[in-house]
Amino acid sequence: MSEMPIPEAHPPKCVSELRPVVEEQLCRWLPSADDVPARLAEAMHYSVFSGGKRIRPILALLSCRMISSDTAPALPAACAVEFIHTYSLIHDDLPCMDDDDVRRGKPTCHVAFGEALAVLAADGLQALAYEVLSRADYPPGPAVKMVRELSSASGPSGMVGGQVMDISQSNRKAAPEELRALHAAKTGALIRASVNVGAIAAGATDEQLQHLDEYGRQFGLAFQITDDILDVVGDPEKTGRYRGSDQQSDRFTYPRLYGVKRSRQKARAAVERGREALRCFGSRSDELVNLLEFVIARDR
Ligand code: IPE
Ligand code: IPE
Ligand code: MG
Ligand code: MG
Ligand code: MG
Repeated sequence: MSEMPIPEAHPPKCVSELRPVVEEQLCRWLPSADDVPARLAEAMHYSVFSGGKRIRPILALLSCRMISSDTAPALPAACAVEFIHTYSLIHDDLPCMDDDDVRRGKPTCHVAFGEALAVLAADGLQALAYEVLSRADYPPGPAVKMVRELSSASGPSGMVGGQVMDISQSNRKAAPEELRALHAAKTGALIRASVNVGAIAAGATDEQLQHLDEYGRQFGLAFQITDDILDVVGDPEKTGRYRGSDQQSDRFTYPRLYGVKRSRQKARAAVERGREALRCFGSRSDELVNLLEFVIARDR
């Protein structure tokens, strides 16, 4: 397998613009130590603010901005998505799952707070996501649509199902279709939902939603292939994780099935399909297309 270093990749301008906007809102929704047990508030805050890239909330905001020229309607939905994502990472790192001690260059939640509190902090974040959607001022119709998107994307037919496929595939013979389905479920579903809740917040038509959904599907695939590649060739100084966690856990990944070079080609092909899905929006889709390009060029 190629060990070529990954060149430095600079995120598009919208990332530096929107990351602080997202973080201010995340802070606003997180419970404080005055309202809930202090260690719980601390653990939730720790994992939400340990240096995530905020790709999913930014996707929600960009999708909303493409349709409505404004990011504000999608802010609560963007936070909900990031809370679900953070909960999924806390569980993913547990000793019973991937058994990772380090994430984003810091001790994982269970290392810093103990397993019981990590499980509970993640549970708290999952519930908080839906609390946010229900407390934000969304009209009932769109609110229910967003809850449907997020719950089906993160539940048994989405992320949770994908995680089960991921832990049970070990030692199984690799089959391309299975791997694609695994990635679509464990990572793709939440990424698609991020794009879709942003569009729903903007009042997108069904036709617009269909195009965005296809973009989200391709984004998710390109994203997880790149995540798999980074596990093999990424620089731990940049990824903030040890190399080779997937191999150690005997995970079924793109580099394992195709090697790094062909995996990169497959990620590139997904980017092209994602770009194509947004062609009908013309230059209004530039920000989403730039983020898609970044996702396969990233080094962390
Ligand atoms: C990592 O996601 C977990 C996967 C689903 C592959 P990210 O790479 O988006 O994680 P952070 O939030 O930026 O650290
Ligand atoms: C994690 O996939 C997917 C979810 C958390 C749902 P990975 O196990 O590949 O993510 P990393 O590499 O630990 O971030
Ligand atoms: Mg995992
Ligand atoms: Mg993992
Ligand atoms: Mg990974």
